[in-house]
Amino acid sequence: MTYVNWIVERNERRGRQMTPKAQPREKREKKKDAVIHPLSIGNVTLANNLILGPMAGVCDLPFRLLCHEQGAGLVCTEMVSAKAIAYNNRNTGELLTVSDEERPVSLQIFGSDPKLMADQARRIEPLHWDILDINMGCPVPKVFNNGDGSALLKDPLLAGRIIEAVANAIGKPLTVKIRLGISADSINCAEVAHIAQESGAAAVTVHGRTRDQFYMGRADWEQIARVKRAVSIPVIGNGDITGPTDVQAMYEQTGVDGYMIARGAQGNPWIFRQILHCFQEGEELLRPSAREMCALMLRQARMMCDLKGEHTGIRQIRKHAAWYTAGYPGSARLRGLVNEVQTYEALEELFREYFAV
Ligand SMILES: Cc1cc2nc3c(=O)[nH]c(=O)nc-3n(C[C@H](O)[C@H](O)[C@H](O)COP(=O)(O)O)c2cc1C
Repeated sequence: MTYVNWIVERNERRGRQMTPKAQPREKREKKKDAVIHPLSIGNVTLANNLILGPMAGVCDLPFRLLCHEQGAGLVCTEMVSAKAIAYNNRNTGELLTVSDEERPVSLQIFGSDPKLMADQARRIEPLHWDILDINMGCPVPKVFNNGDGSALLKDPLLAGRIIEAVANAIGKPLTVKIRLGISADSINCAEVAHIAQESGAAAVTVHGRTRDQFYMGRADWEQIARVKRAVSIPVIGNGDITGPTDVQAMYEQTGVDGYMIARGAQGNPWIFRQILHCFQEGEELLRPSAREMCALMLRQARMMCDLKGEHTGIRQIRKHAAWYTAGYPGSARLRGLVNEVQTYEALEELFREYFAV
């Protein structure tokens, strides 16, 4: 089976159409402008409203650069602990490294002490990020049990105090990323978003799941629509966007101002170009050929090795390689081989041989 056929079949299995139906140019233009458009967050204007979501262990500088190149209007870093910044922890240096080539970029911090968060935000403001984001959605026990991330949804007033302190400490725009609430019976995203707005946030991103759901079940876009109705700052919708049809559907269901894509970009940084192309040209842009996929993946691997050293770079590229090649015939065997590779040269040889490029 060819890769293109596989994509088409997969989308049919998922009951999704890859491309909204072709429409006359005039109608397309209107639709495109309503759905995809530049977005201002405070004094930062994004060329478009497609945003790479923050993903710990995924959104390092090389991956963000690729997503930026592929058209993302904003890329987000992996989350960084405000406490770790305060203590100058060893690996925060890498997490705080942003490049002018990937801008505009949003840097995400987490924590729950308003003063510490504000002090650290002020301290790192001279770095070249454009927007600061506060994580109020992370569900993992290590973070949640510490009162950070999604735990702040339990205490909207503390969340407000944090936002106010940080917004007052910096000149760059501050955004907040939340979930629907802690659990299905304590959904309070509209209230938290309103508090965020009143406390100085320039935009809010809503992941349409509760903390208890982690990543299970489908994201509830109706709740995202409630948030959109509750605030006047830009609302960015997040959860389960895997292509242009989802963007169109989320717009129709929620009227959000922007779209955040996280897992849909794993091994698939061209998702941004695909969506932009679809709305701009009204036609589907096929996934790149094996040759292009290979070149992109190897470039990411090269950048990771250069940035982190070959030992770490090669280990960290393994999961990306698995995402890039998922669904290709023999990909399970390839994954096994990639896991044994120790050098960039060996990885390149393996991929070139495997994909005959
Ligand atoms: C591996 C992984 C790491 C993540 N790390 C973060 C993070 O550091 N900060 C954050 O706000 N969200 C994080 N998320 C959540 C995503 O940003 C996003 O909200 C979620 O995956 C839903 O969007 P999606 O359906 O487009 O993936 C992470 C998700 C995944 C899968």
